[in-house]
Amino acid sequence: MNKTVIGVLASGRGSNLQAIVDAIEAGRLDAKIGAVISDNPEANVLKRMAASDIPTICIDRRQFARRQEFEAAVAEELNIRHVELVVLAGFMRILSSYFIDRFAGKIMNIHPALLPAFPGEDAQQQAVDYGAKVSGCTVHFVDEGMDTGPIILQEAVPVLEDDTAETLSERILHAEHILYPRALALYCDGRLKVEGRRVQISEASSDK
Ligand code: GRF
Repeated sequence: MNKTVIGVLASGRGSNLQAIVDAIEAGRLDAKIGAVISDNPEANVLKRMAASDIPTICIDRRQFARRQEFEAAVAEELNIRHVELVVLAGFMRILSSYFIDRFAGKIMNIHPALLPAFPGEDAQQQAVDYGAKVSGCTVHFVDEGMDTGPIILQEAVPVLEDDTAETLSERILHAEHILYPRALALYCDGRLKVEGRRVQISEASSDK
């Protein structure tokens, strides 16, 4: 089977992208990164990829008057590079239906909480403030809502008595780096089927 071409959209640190790159190199994920696109010229993710042969592109949101023009430019880059799955990895922009319709069912995100708990920004702080005993991370398909798309995989981590948002974020991030490549591998191996809100995961075929 041909490798699935993925396009990663990221705005910041890029540790999830690194975990994806590592999974590909280790043979745990049968994919090829066609492009890494950042909306932020200062993003560490661009520096992180500088020494690799992965194409990195900066599409600065500030250069566009309207969101749709920005999204059209991102979509065009993804299409030029034949991207089949869009992977949001710390992408700090909300995508409109204009973009989502163009990649319907083909956009994934990772969120640092057990959805539907604590959607939106500062999910780890929300979990600490709420007094939750357990939080974690969720990989989901992206729909037009805020962190509301069908859930693919989740991993729980404990919230400890003396946790701050920072210490909890670190624990969750460790789980993210394992969960996101696993979810991507399920997609790339053709094992995900979305039925309404539910994502069915089929058994691995034995001929692989
Ligand atoms: C992660 O915590 C992820 O859950 C959230 O944004 C953060 C990105 O971190 N969506 P990194 O840029 O991958 O290090």
